[in-house]
Amino acid sequence: LNKDYEECLEFATSLAQECGQIILEASKARYSKTNKIYEKSGNPSDLVTETDRIVEELIKTKINSKFPEHRFIGEEMTAAGHQYELTNDPTWIVDPIDGTTNFVHGFPFVAVCIGLTFNKEPVVGVVFNPFLNQLFTARKGNGAYLNFNTKLPLSSPNPPLNLPPSLSQCLIVTEFGSDRSPSTIGKKVQSVHNMISKPGNVTWSKKNAGLVHGIRNLGSAALDIMQIAKGEADMFWEIGCWEWDVTAAIIILREAGGLMVNGNGPNEGPVDILGRKYLAVRAGSPCAGDETSEQSQLRLVRELW
Ligand code: IPD
Repeated sequence: LNKDYEECLEFATSLAQECGQIILEASKARYSKTNKIYEKSGNPSDLVTETDRIVEELIKTKINSKFPEHRFIGEEMTAAGHQYELTNDPTWIVDPIDGTTNFVHGFPFVAVCIGLTFNKEPVVGVVFNPFLNQLFTARKGNGAYLNFNTKLPLSSPNPPLNLPPSLSQCLIVTEFGSDRSPSTIGKKVQSVHNMISKPGNVTWSKKNAGLVHGIRNLGSAALDIMQIAKGEADMFWEIGCWEWDVTAAIIILREAGGLMVNGNGPNEGPVDILGRKYLAVRAGSPCAGDETSEQSQLRLVRELW
């Protein structure tokens, strides 16, 4: 099986690089008539371009011809109404452009995401940002790499700043997503508020203190998770992104020693890949308490909600 995963990873890597070239070329022409931009279901916060569709079609065609017995789930075919279920069969889960809004604006955090699941678990993943030429790859049991040679996580002070383990020493990455309904946005804003402005009784000198060091938002869930895999941020949390945004990223994160758990409430246990609620914590994060215990990760969610 390991040999199979190796072949799948090599295939997915060169496919992602080929797609990266197409995305770069298309980006130069992003304001031209040939690269049309559409709103999904009339939602101006949820965009799709001609390039998303072309790239997904290319990936799907190449996977079908190389691995005809494998299944395929893609963001754009799903948006077009295609139904699917995740089975135990090998299944490629693909986002041709994660960060479509960034792509439309030329903000250089855009990624091709190609993930493979087996028995419903991610086993191979490629996340490629062609604008920054950052290629993240992993297959199960073999570690995670940046641009082939750099093993993840990158070596950085661990925990940073020599401070005691605590959520208050963390850099958090989160997204507001495309669902802007007042109830969803209200919850997210409240959660961000809880993190950046310390709740409860604080002394006068600490009145302006935040709960966490800071909050970041790249506009691509997969690239957000890559920051956690690299060890450059401590935690990613998003409710509302999709399996194609995270499947490739999950195996890269795990192979880099990080954890991905359900992002909604303390009692839900391991992540459900189709669950649309994700919380990632980097290897050795100061917010992890005893670092590897899933329980301590879940404690964090309780602190946030
Ligand atoms: C979106 C991005 C965004 C996240 C959304 C995703 P897309 O993916 O990852 O950061 O907040 O939830 O749907 O639409 O650009 O592929």
